[in-house]
Amino acid sequence: MYALCPETQNDTPEVEALMDLCFAPGRTALSSYRLREGVPQVWALCLVLRDEAGVLLGAIRYWPVRVGERPVLLLGPVAVHPTTQGEGLGALLMRESLSRARELGWARVMLVGDLPYYQRFGFAKLDDVEMPPPTNPDRVLGLELVDGAWRGVNGPVTRETSARVAAGLNEQLREPPKSQARVVISPPAGASRGVAGAGKR
Ligand SMILES: CC(C)(COP(=O)(O)OP(=O)(O)OC[C@H]1O[C@@H](n2cnc3c(N)ncnc32)[C@H](O)[C@@H]1OP(=O)(O)O)[C@@H](O)C(=O)NCCC(=O)NCCS
Repeated sequence: MYALCPETQNDTPEVEALMDLCFAPGRTALSSYRLREGVPQVWALCLVLRDEAGVLLGAIRYWPVRVGERPVLLLGPVAVHPTTQGEGLGALLMRESLSRARELGWARVMLVGDLPYYQRFGFAKLDDVEMPPPTNPDRVLGLELVDGAWRGVNGPVTRETSARVAAGLNEQLREPPKSQARVVISPPAGASRGVAGAGKR
């Protein structure tokens, strides 16, 4: 069995190490990191996945950003440890966090990534949304959590500095959780550790 929990500050050094392992050196030089600087991550959606022994297998993070005047969730980074990639854990982190985002009232999500991977979760290229350069426009992808949520939302992506968002929708998300609401889940079919089965909350 695996444990899926919101990231706490105790997890953060390990999550950073996993990201360093999974991404090319210099990942924090990417333009998407400039949008995250000085902005609290959306703690309730940043999830860590551990095995029975507590080994970190994967993590996903989200930050709030703005496109035009509209609040948007920026998904990423997401990473799965190289020894457990291809077992459905990335999909589990994606689906679980996106489901929580919908429950929390977020309407739209974007990311910078490979369409062939993310289209299985419903992401499609965003034609009129501009990430800070240098970003390949073909990798700017979006997903509607509410029907029509991307309609008419376009322009440059900017850092979320709005006090309204900080104090409103994300109030509960501004601080890292003090304790972990641990959810035990069965590994997805194909995973090497444990019994196959559907994930449950
Ligand atoms: C991308 C990543 C999170 C996916 O996690 P995972 O647990 O390996 O993914 P899943 O098991 O859910 O899905 C595996 C499938 O995705 C495919 N896939 C993985 N990365 C892909 C990519 N960049 N482009 C296209 N397909 C990809 C695999 O080929 C596999 O395909 P299959 O189902 O047809 O066999 C993981 O591979 C990883 O950490 N990679 C390094 C970091 C990274 O690139 N993160 C994403 C950018 S933010």
